Amino acid sequence: MKRRFNVIIAGLLLFISVQVQAQANDGAAWFRHSITTIGEQLKRAAATYTPGLNPRSVNPDGTVRTAPYTDWTTGFFPGSLWYGYELTGNKDLAAAAKRFTLALDSIRFVTKTHDLGFMLYCSYGNAWRITGDNRYLPVLKEGAEHLYERFSPKTGVIRSWDFGDWKFPVIIDNMMNLEYLYWAGAQFQKPVYNKAANTHALTTLKNHFRKDYSSYHVVDYDPVTGKVRGRETHQGLSDESAWARGQAWGLYGYIMCYNNSGNPKFLQQAQHIAQFITTHPRMPENKIPVWDFDVHNALDADGRAPRDASAAAVIACGLLDLSTKMKGGEKYAAYAEEILKSLSSPDFLAQPGDNHFFILKHSVGAFLYNSEIDTPLNYADYYYLEALKKYAALKKITLPLQ
Ligand code: GLY
Repeated sequence: MKRRFNVIIAGLLLFISVQVQAQANDGAAWFRHSITTIGEQLKRAAATYTPGLNPRSVNPDGTVRTAPYTDWTTGFFPGSLWYGYELTGNKDLAAAAKRFTLALDSIRFVTKTHDLGFMLYCSYGNAWRITGDNRYLPVLKEGAEHLYERFSPKTGVIRSWDFGDWKFPVIIDNMMNLEYLYWAGAQFQKPVYNKAANTHALTTLKNHFRKDYSSYHVVDYDPVTGKVRGRETHQGLSDESAWARGQAWGLYGYIMCYNNSGNPKFLQQAQHIAQFITTHPRMPENKIPVWDFDVHNALDADGRAPRDASAAAVIACGLLDLSTKMKGGEKYAAYAEEILKSLSSPDFLAQPGDNHFFILKHSVGAFLYNSEIDTPLNYADYYYLEALKKYAALKKITLPLQ
């Protein structure tokens, strides 16, 4: 009798384990649904938009704002097409990705911005990683040279912008362009690029953060003395506020720097930032932050405090990476999963055919400039796809999804 009972229990356990394994390899229903939607939206977007004029966001009048090659967001749409190909296996998306990537060839002449990482690594970088086609390399090589030229040994940072009244402005977003420099340093045998990326990250660690590990948006340096002239915001609510996407760029930037350098200071900084974000008392229950953590009463025209899906997607990427690098990282993997489930719900994920073929709804560009409020944004889509890829790797879900 006892023996028979043991056999039944053993059989039951085996059945459960096979079911769990099957679920892990197939992906949960929400994950499958989101991959199907992504495939549909990207296929239609590729057929609708023109290479070289990539979809960026939706204007209040319902028209689509497009991005020429000089726009900081121009690499995200081709990058999403590449990720769409990896997630779905649809070869038409790879063909479209190639068309939309090659149309950005003139970025090789752009020198007046730090955004070359966003512009080139997301487009040409993914193209080269996925295809191994060396014809993508010359543009990547020139772009990296131009990014490196913006580094000053005096300030110890890469200059972000050439506009405005600042003398040597550096924004927290700049942390995201370092991954490109690390990669280019190894690829083109330029160790000075890696050194510059490390120095930028260390200087930013010293000057951009408050005691609670929230970050300022802009730090302006004196290019002659290298000293900090001021700390302020450009896209946040106020100079002392915690602009949500800025916190996200910092988190993901530092874990990327750790991945590329192995410097434990960068891992520690990413952990501090993650702690600030995930324990913030104003983080909503669905884990999609309002566009600035300090918003109490800055409302849009309809009296709402809009959420920023782009910040959430970047936070999910950072937390998924961080979760694999630290003891107790499961809590951050679980938090990222909550974000991804929210973004994959009808509240944020478009219905196929809607949303001008963007994938996510509800992001914020620059609230106080009345620019891109509660709109789809191409970088929300890009980092959502990047996070889904990381999630699949973590959960051992086989891609492309069949
Ligand atoms: N890098 C510009 C932004 O995050 O809006």
